[in-house]
Amino acid sequence: MSIFEQRESEIRAYCRVYPAVFDTASNARQTDENGKEYIDFFAGAGVLNFGHNNERMKQAVIEYLQRNGVTHSLDMHTRAKRHFMERFSRIILEPRQMSHKMQFMGPTGTNAVEAALKLARRATGRHDIVAFHHGFHGMTLGSLACTANQYFRGAAGIPLTHVSHTAFGAEGATADTAMQALKLLEESYRDGSSGVTAPAAFLVETVQAEGGVNIADKTWLRALASLAKSVGALLIVDDIQAGMGRTGSFFSFDDYGIEPDIICLAKGLGGLGTPIAMNLVKPDYDRHWSPGEHTGTFRGQCLSFVAGSEALSYFEDSYLMAEVKEKEAIMQSVLGSLGAYETIEIRGKGMLYGVDVGNGERAKTIVSRCFDAGLLVSACGSGGRVIKLIPPLTTPEADLKAGLAILVAVTQDVLQEAA
Ligand SMILES: Cc1ncc(COP(=O)(O)O)c(C=O)c1O
Repeated sequence: MSIFEQRESEIRAYCRVYPAVFDTASNARQTDENGKEYIDFFAGAGVLNFGHNNERMKQAVIEYLQRNGVTHSLDMHTRAKRHFMERFSRIILEPRQMSHKMQFMGPTGTNAVEAALKLARRATGRHDIVAFHHGFHGMTLGSLACTANQYFRGAAGIPLTHVSHTAFGAEGATADTAMQALKLLEESYRDGSSGVTAPAAFLVETVQAEGGVNIADKTWLRALASLAKSVGALLIVDDIQAGMGRTGSFFSFDDYGIEPDIICLAKGLGGLGTPIAMNLVKPDYDRHWSPGEHTGTFRGQCLSFVAGSEALSYFEDSYLMAEVKEKEAIMQSVLGSLGAYETIEIRGKGMLYGVDVGNGERAKTIVSRCFDAGLLVSACGSGGRVIKLIPPLTTPEADLKAGLAILVAVTQDVLQEAA
């Protein structure tokens, strides 16, 4: 029995899906200890937008370590942090005329969401949050209360309160129903006898990744933003998985015409795959914090600042984002060949695609056979019925095509066996 089976907690999960011991990795490929190579369409669940061991970022981190750059600093000032903040401000915020402050917290996505919820409640004096069906926001109790999946919620051990879930307005057939749900909410907030009061915030993903790759309908998201404004609630966009260029521009909501009050970022923000989380907060709300009220020993990770500063270079020009659009076209056209199967639905934006095979068991078989064939993909969505493709944005075209070919062939085999 390996040390993993002997000693690692029963909680282990991805290692059961990918039964290998990985050793090295470069861009869109990972190699296990036996030398078998895998094309990585999982990419650390959306962390490795710029590939494994991105050369520019790796060199920057090596140089930083070699000159004894500070690695840990809580929220003290460092040159690495200044450089990152200046670049983030200049490359991302200023061109969008965003006056948002940058708040650093413990370095995982759930920390960012917790801080956003706290601040929204503090700023409005209200308790309740509205989140959405199929939303995923993390595992700590505040975020978990907003996460919709019952399997995860069940592990809380206490009631998850002060959050209600309403229909997510995904592009397609259900957008109208979600719009009706919003209208009902609006009416109930205005009706002093409805028993419902306005929330502190609406917490939404523009593209629900874990929820099954559901893309917010533009009209619906704009209606949500305007509802939030009209009832004095904050609009929080959780861009932890769909941000950082994933959908073809830095923020997933860049083409939605909304102005979120708080934006949660983590995962890809550190560029190389080292942890960091950051909220962008409108100054009017940020002023509700007092110094040190929401801390975290590992807030503001210098190695992530160093690599993350390099990652921002990809947004100084339009080269990578143009490539994402070209690669999206490849994904669409290759996956389109599965469109002939009635049971399959393809959804996606940028380089975040979902193949909904309609059934969790089927998806599990496809994921496992892809693994055997040298492709890493994961399942998400209701009952795990959607195969999620989230390859590094820097994936070479040849690897993208090779990975897609494996996925299509495996899916066709599995569907034919089921027929
Ligand atoms: C949209 C979204 N929010 C929050 C989280 C939680 O991030 P973390 O696992 O780093 O706490 C995730 C993780 O997958 C996510 O996809």
